[in-house]
Amino acid sequence: MVSERSAVPAGAEVLVASNRGPVSYSLGEDGTLTAKRGGGGLVSGLSAIGPDTNAVWVCAALGDGDREAVRRTGGAPAPGDTGGRRVRMLDIPAEVHAQAYNGIANSVLWFVHHMLYQTPLEPVFGAEFRAQWASYEAYNRAFARALADEAAEGAAVLVQDYHLALVPGMLRTLRPDVRIAHFSHTPWAPPEYFRMLPDDVAEQLLRGMLGADRLGFLTHRWADAFTACCAAVLGGTGGTGTGVYGLGADAGFLRERSHRADVADRLAALREQIGTGPDGSPRRTIVRVDRTELSKNIVRGLLAYRQLLADRPSWRERVVHVAFAYPSRQDLAVYRDYTAAVGRLADEINAEYGTAGWTPVVLHVKDDFARSLAAYRLADVALVNPIRDGMNLVAKEIPVVSDHGCALVLSREAGAHEELGAAAITVNPYDVSGTAEALHEALSMDAAERAERTERLAAAATALPPDRWFLAQLRALTG
Ligand code: F6P
Repeated sequence: MVSERSAVPAGAEVLVASNRGPVSYSLGEDGTLTAKRGGGGLVSGLSAIGPDTNAVWVCAALGDGDREAVRRTGGAPAPGDTGGRRVRMLDIPAEVHAQAYNGIANSVLWFVHHMLYQTPLEPVFGAEFRAQWASYEAYNRAFARALADEAAEGAAVLVQDYHLALVPGMLRTLRPDVRIAHFSHTPWAPPEYFRMLPDDVAEQLLRGMLGADRLGFLTHRWADAFTACCAAVLGGTGGTGTGVYGLGADAGFLRERSHRADVADRLAALREQIGTGPDGSPRRTIVRVDRTELSKNIVRGLLAYRQLLADRPSWRERVVHVAFAYPSRQDLAVYRDYTAAVGRLADEINAEYGTAGWTPVVLHVKDDFARSLAAYRLADVALVNPIRDGMNLVAKEIPVVSDHGCALVLSREAGAHEELGAAAITVNPYDVSGTAEALHEALSMDAAERAERTERLAAAATALPPDRWFLAQLRALTG
């Protein structure tokens, strides 16, 4: 039987929707398109359903290269570029996408859920916000229509993140037959913060999400906050089920990947930069790897390290803070300013404490996955101190990869703390003095305790690897 609404003969049985897709294109000066495949939990999760399942990943074209690829391929990139997966890339008008993505998703919803506003002056919900909100609605509608168009009768649709909060409700209207899940990869704001949003917008967001059959969150804390927002704004969830799926690290992939030749090269280069202490043994390392997001708290991490060097001079010359802060969302001025602040503070610390043979902070800002894995391998201490974070996979990955085991200094505001807190050294991310003390404790931990804690951290970190994380959600939706 051929469905009259579908242009695709069979229609997909499993659909994933996210703003950023599994492939991106760059456009060369000679007009050639180069595809780059993305990684992350969703990419490895989706591989769990096997190549025979009729699946499609719906995503947005994000830059000029993507838009050109859509023009050349009709929105269906070649399977060779996508690891064999069928992808439908949507060419939403650039202005609409920018207003929805930068204006609403990253400057409003991300700020609300991570509680990032400096409230004496922001947020301001006026005419500009309303225009951006209209674009957010249009962008969500484009996704809902594409999904409705691609889905087979009774298909399972897994919608991702705060970018697409309105999609479940819109899709439910277009296609009452499909099963819809929505997963939040971020924290969820508590009601008193969420209700900063204009009342009609708060209501529309929650009703949009409640159009789903199942709502997934990374921790109980975020799921409970969502339920509390529904109670405060709508009087309840109307019976929509929530579930908690704590995405874990992919141990097999990480261990194999971190022992390839390119990682060994980076490891040698890093060891050279780190050098040896006064007694000739390799210096200790405090490692952090982040996208430079406002919520990652890199500046207070550096302040805590500076305080450690000030308060405990015995660590001078004996430790190096290896800090990788990779670019993120550089269209937004506040992100660019934050990136600059990180660089300035690292320079200040190096100027204040550095010596001819010792650079106290080794900062890298150019994204390099192999180098990140090299840093994971040599970490003595992992510093993960976000002011708020949905999960934070770095906290889960370092204990799995580190060569000699590492002590984890972990913010109690990271989602990962729910699973890893018992084996970590917990910090209040705003307490710079407390974080400096935690770094000292972590650096001083004896080998036996460090090994024992690393074992517990790695076990907790790999409890729900990406393939099982994805399948568990799919089963809950369709079972
Ligand atoms: O890390 C949380 C998250 O929401 C991811 O789910 C998502 O991939 C990412 O942030 C979005 O980041 P970007 O703006 O770079 O696409």
